[in-house]
Order: sequence, then C-alpha cells, then structure tokens
Amino acid sequence: MLKKNLKIKVSNFKICLTESDIDFILDKERGVLKSSRWTSGPVAKQFEDVFKKYAGTAHAIAVSNAGTGIAALLQALKIPEDSIVICPTLTAPPTPHSILLAGMRVVFADSNSDDLGLNPQDVEEKLERYRGKVKAVITVHLGGWISPRIHELSRLCKKYGVYLIEDCAHAHGSFLNSKNAGSTGKAAVYSFFMTKSLNCGEGGLVTSEDSRIIERIRVIRNYGKNDSGIHVVNGFNYKFSEINAAVALWAAVNAKRIIGERRRLAAKYDLLLKGIRGISIVNVQGCLCGYYKYIIKLDNGISRDAFKRELLLRYAVEPAGGVYDLLCHQEPYFKSIPNRILNVSGKFPAAEDFSDRQVCLPLYPGLKAHEQEYIADSIRKLMGKV
Ligand SMILES: Cc1ncc(COP(=O)(O)O)c(C=O)c1O
Repeated sequence: MLKKNLKIKVSNFKICLTESDIDFILDKERGVLKSSRWTSGPVAKQFEDVFKKYAGTAHAIAVSNAGTGIAALLQALKIPEDSIVICPTLTAPPTPHSILLAGMRVVFADSNSDDLGLNPQDVEEKLERYRGKVKAVITVHLGGWISPRIHELSRLCKKYGVYLIEDCAHAHGSFLNSKNAGSTGKAAVYSFFMTKSLNCGEGGLVTSEDSRIIERIRVIRNYGKNDSGIHVVNGFNYKFSEINAAVALWAAVNAKRIIGERRRLAAKYDLLLKGIRGISIVNVQGCLCGYYKYIIKLDNGISRDAFKRELLLRYAVEPAGGVYDLLCHQEPYFKSIPNRILNVSGKFPAAEDFSDRQVCLPLYPGLKAHEQEYIADSIRKLMGKV
C-alpha cells in the first residue's frame, strides 16, 4: 500500500541491466576487442540472424540507425530521386528526414483516430492527386500498435503500383492477428536507438523477404562498394559497429523476455488506470503490442500540457516522451521547405486531435510495481481535481 502524500520521483526512462546481462555483453565485447574486426563482422551477423528469427522474416541487414536504414532502403528499391513518398505526419521527424536524405519528396497523410495507423482514405486521395509521382508509402506502428487497416493500405499500394514500407522503429515484438510487425510491407526498418524497446545505443536493421533488397543495402551501406571492391552505386557509411553489435545481440537474444516484461507492465497499468475519469487507454483490436510506449488519451477539453505540468508539480511524475507533442507538418524545418515537403499546410484532423490528447507513461523493464501504483494514484487524484 502506498503511504499517503508521499512523493516519489519516478524516472521517465531508464535502462536496467542485470549482472548477467552485463556479463553477456562484456563477454561478447571481449571477443570483439580481441578480434581486430570492429565493424560489420560476425557479431553483427549473429545479431541479424537472431533478430530476423524473432521478427519472423527471411532476411535482415544491420545498419547504423533506422533513419539511414530507411534512406538506404528507398535507394535499394531504386526509387528515382524527386519521387514522392507518403508518410504520416504522426511520426517522429526521422521518418520524413530519411525520405529527404534519399533525395525524395514528402507528402504527409493523416492517421486513423482509433488505431493510429495511416488513414487509407487520405492515402488514396494523395495517391490520386500525385498519381505517377508517388513511389512508396511508409506506415508507422505508433507506440507498437499495428493498424488492422494495414491490409487496406497494402491493397491500395498494389493498385497504384507503389511500395509499402513499414517503419517498425516502435514495433519490436508487435503482432497483428498473429502476424509479425514488418511482414505486410515490402520491407521493414527497426531502430535500436537507446530509448527503443530493444536497443544498443545506436543501431538499425532492415528486414525483407526479398534478398535482393538486402544485398543492395549491403552495397549502399559501404559507400556503394560491392564484394569485388568496386564502387557500383552511390552510397555512404551506414555500416554497423561490432562494438554496438555485442549489445544489440544481447537485446535480440533476450527479446522475448524484454518485450514480455513490457507487456506485463502495460497489463498492470491497464488494471491500475481502470475507471479513472478523463482518460482512456490506447488499445487496438487484434494487435498484440510490444509496448514501445504506454499511451493514454485525455478526454476532449483536458489540456495535455496542463495535465503534464500538474502531474509534475503536484506529484513529481514526469511522463515519458510523447508521440508526438509536435506533428511533423508543424515542425519549423519541414515548414520551411515547401518544394520538398509538399503539403505542410494540409489538414490532418485525426493526427492533430490525437497529438493534443496523448500522454505516454514511463514504461521500461526495471520499473517497480510501487512506482506504477504511485503514477496511477497520482493520475487518479489529479483527474479527481480537473
Ligand atoms: C518512428 C521512427 N522512425 C524512425 C526513427 C529513427 O530511428 P534512429 O534513431 O534509429 O535513426 C525513430 C526514432 O526516433 C522513430 O521513432
């Protein structure tokens, strides 16, 4: 039972490793350090092999991060520069940044208000409006939730002859009706950035059923140099360090346990938050979420910023980073390049409404039961007052 009026400081993000986790990593690092092979070597290969099994995919390649993974993938798909790629405005800025890095232009689309996936109707409108110029659609599984409408998106992409790509930066271990995240589109890109569900500090991974895409990325990530040492395409250094790979391998080997723990924590929040007025919990029918984020939605009329401020001031509870307090079409840089990002002044009512109402609660392996209880209790008290 929580003591009355006792304030607890709960971290909004933490990486908690056990001694045996650290031993596993150090053991691998020792091997790397002694090997004289410090990049794109056997440990990275092991990481790719273990993760692709976990993600239920045939092929995988590790890259320096998810952003460069998306850019390399767009290039590997041989999408001509200046083509248009559609992505949600309800995503992290790296999604559009990666499209720009690959030399393409961006058109934002709105999301579904219930499952947070790309809105197929809005996507189709844009496919029509920019017919012939759009070459790919990138969908994002926000917080780990996969929209059941991904099948509709897939049909649309086939109809218009464009690639569907899954930005799985949030979706390690997520499933839709028993199908892995990343298995509907032509290819998927995962992030292993520090805050992600599985992480190694910095890292990314591209998966696909099509080995040709993966082999092209292998060349692109090495400044366009093929196995014979000849530079055959444009490329850059998107390679994966063996030193990071030791940590990434630990994450991949322990993926089931880590994601299982995230699910257990989310289920506990579900129970603790039940019945609190003024909030609802994001949940998507048919999706088994990997819970990169635990997202609650405030009722209409409750200010997100005031909620967060009061939670911090009164109870010292600092929510985790939101998804997202500023949408991509509202970001100053994206607004400043109308010839590259074509519709920043468009209408995105569902994304805007969601952005105004979303709050993410701290969720990471190592979060204690009493900390979750304290957070839920603080929200209950706060909502009693609003
Ligand atoms: C949806 C989404 N896509 C892509 C990325 C880029 O990941 P990375 O930092 O590994 O480049 C992020 C990371 O914040 C993300 O949240």
